[in-house]
Amino acid sequence: MPVPMVGRTDALDELRRAWERAGATRRCVPAVITGLPGTGKSTLVSAALQLTTPQVVLSGSARLHSPAPYDWLAAVLAGIGPRPGLPVPPDALAWLAQDPDVPRERYTPDALLRLAVTTVRTLVGGRRAVLVVEDLHALDPASLNLIGELAAAELPALLVVTSRPPEAAVSPLLTARVLARLSGAPGAVRQHLGALTAGQVSRILGHVYGASCPSPQVAEAVWRRTGGNPYRLSELLATAGGPEALADAPLPAHLQERPELTAREREVIGCLAEGMSNKQIARALGISVRTVTVHVSNLLRKTGAASRTEAALWAVQRDLRATAAS
Ligand SMILES: Nc1ncnc2c1ncn2[C@@H]1O[C@H](COP(=O)(O)OP(=O)(O)OP(=O)(O)O)[C@@H](O)[C@H]1O
Ligand SMILES: [Mg+2]
Repeated sequence: MPVPMVGRTDALDELRRAWERAGATRRCVPAVITGLPGTGKSTLVSAALQLTTPQVVLSGSARLHSPAPYDWLAAVLAGIGPRPGLPVPPDALAWLAQDPDVPRERYTPDALLRLAVTTVRTLVGGRRAVLVVEDLHALDPASLNLIGELAAAELPALLVVTSRPPEAAVSPLLTARVLARLSGAPGAVRQHLGALTAGQVSRILGHVYGASCPSPQVAEAVWRRTGGNPYRLSELLATAGGPEALADAPLPAHLQERPELTAREREVIGCLAEGMSNKQIARALGISVRTVTVHVSNLLRKTGAASRTEAALWAVQRDLRATAAS
């Protein structure tokens, strides 16, 4: 059963005002939405898109299984179907779109960045746009630079960016820098989504169960069990079977104190516990940095950790270091 969105009215209001500012100034206004896994960043973006009436929406996120520069723009270009005529040389466009078999070394990074900005500008075409960057933390450095440039562009666009904390990112320092740059742009909006309150969890239960709504004590227990995390809450509601079971139904495996980790995830979390960087882990396990990031991302979700440091601590507390070493 779909869980209604609660508790984000102020955030939505702010996003609506930012959208109006972008229209009035005809300058790009960034809206940075951060939060731990499952706190409702994507849900808020969907609600914002319904609230605004953009003429153009360009939306993209990291394409985790095809690691290459300009993932965001490549995802945007893939999403719009046939490409309109763009004032960009075809081989540069092929490179930006991650088409196979393009000559790789013809353009300097600066030239490509300029062409990427031109591409976005042309796609927007002076119309009122929302640019959506989902999961900035998972993006490649070229995309991060592009997003930073767009934040300062004269475009009548709201630039909505979601991100987990920078320490969970592929490029933690660059991610932190870009988030700071976006947040510092004139008129920018900054929203950090926290956990839901006990009252908000109770409202959701009322909505989902109607007349058979569980008691305030059960609502309180549900809030404690899920930490007010919307993702954990929706998973519990999906698996509990009924309101009476909410307080003591076993949590789904991935939300348990000791969730099932795959063999590879155990290796990765073991490396985290040793304080290794993503690059070091990639080297140690013979896999790509991007794949490590996917594992770290899944580990954060499974362990409910807020950061890689917290995940490392989680592993140390459960003695997963030894498992990784064996
Ligand atoms: N404000 C809210 N009220 C009720 N339910 C919510 C709310 N926000 C999110 N949810 C529910 O929680 C779940 C996770 O939300 P969402 O995918 O938006 O989180 P996220 O922050 O984007 O996670 P991730 O970091 O994994 O991308 C979804 O099932 C969504 O319906
Ligand atoms: Mg999301």
